[in-house]
Amino acid sequence: MSNLTATAVANANIAFIKYWGNRNDQIRLPANGSISMNLGNLFTQTRVEFSPDFSQDTLSINHQSIIGQPLVRVSAFLDFLRNMSDIKYTARVTSSNNFPTGAGIASSAAGFAALALAASSALHLNLDEASLSRLSRRGSGSACRSIPPGFVEWLPGEDDQSSYAFSIAPPEHWELVDCIAIVESGPKAVGSTEGHASAGTSPLQVARVADAPRRLELCKNAIQHKDFDALAAIVEMDSNLMHAVMITSNPPILYWSSTSLELMKAIPTMRRAGLPVCYTLDAGSNVHVLCPAEAAPLVESHLTAFPGVEQVLVSSVGGPAYLVEENE
Ligand code: DP6
Repeated sequence: MSNLTATAVANANIAFIKYWGNRNDQIRLPANGSISMNLGNLFTQTRVEFSPDFSQDTLSINHQSIIGQPLVRVSAFLDFLRNMSDIKYTARVTSSNNFPTGAGIASSAAGFAALALAASSALHLNLDEASLSRLSRRGSGSACRSIPPGFVEWLPGEDDQSSYAFSIAPPEHWELVDCIAIVESGPKAVGSTEGHASAGTSPLQVARVADAPRRLELCKNAIQHKDFDALAAIVEMDSNLMHAVMITSNPPILYWSSTSLELMKAIPTMRRAGLPVCYTLDAGSNVHVLCPAEAAPLVESHLTAFPGVEQVLVSSVGGPAYLVEENE
């Protein structure tokens, strides 16, 4: 029996143009296209082993055994892979994040990208980059953007085949840095899967989706020309637009803490004073502060000193998901 084990690493990513809402929740066909940057310093490493000796799928994250909904989600994802393969064994999934748990950093993008690569390799499925991206998308939409390297665009597509992500610029194209301000952890946030499902209840979602091609174009141009001011304008606008949808959904979702809001006011002020910085927030209260690498030390020290910021995680642009050789 050949070895049915593989280990993969995938980076987290931060969206410049956000994915919010699906046209098909089942297979995660997004309402609009999105663009992100891989975060090379924040990653998940996942080992998957299929064996006839296991009685059921098991999942451990950071040495903790996980049951309930997260395991059901992983098992359903593995079922999809088992259907693509002749091998029907259950699996042991062992995963670890190199970033602090409980800091509100979403791990589903890195997690499902690493799981897709490790599990498909363990089953000897030999998938190319686009196929891996499509597969990851089914686990978590944003995970499809953690497969290719650098700056990545996810085409919304019209069906499974046409909805996948690819690199629009390699990591070395532009030395941008994401300084993530971890703010006081408030009450447990609404998960993004639940948020996507309610996006359509906001009267603003239709306008946000209709305007997405224009924002995607502006963002791509800013990346291509390394135009930080243009990037800052579209990234902040897109984040605000998504949060406008969130707070006008039924039920409303408000992810910001008071510190998030203070940072959203302070960062454009810093920019007007000459520091190249901009903010973007995902489905949580942490504030991602983007800047060119030269500005990162100063930005990091401003954020560390900012009242209410607990810690600052710093990441440069990351590469693609990759397989790790097993030492046997
Ligand atoms: C706000 O990919 O986490 O971070 O597909 O349900 O797993 P699921 O959602 P997820 O949604 C990400 C939402 C976001 C914006 C983005 O990353 O584009």
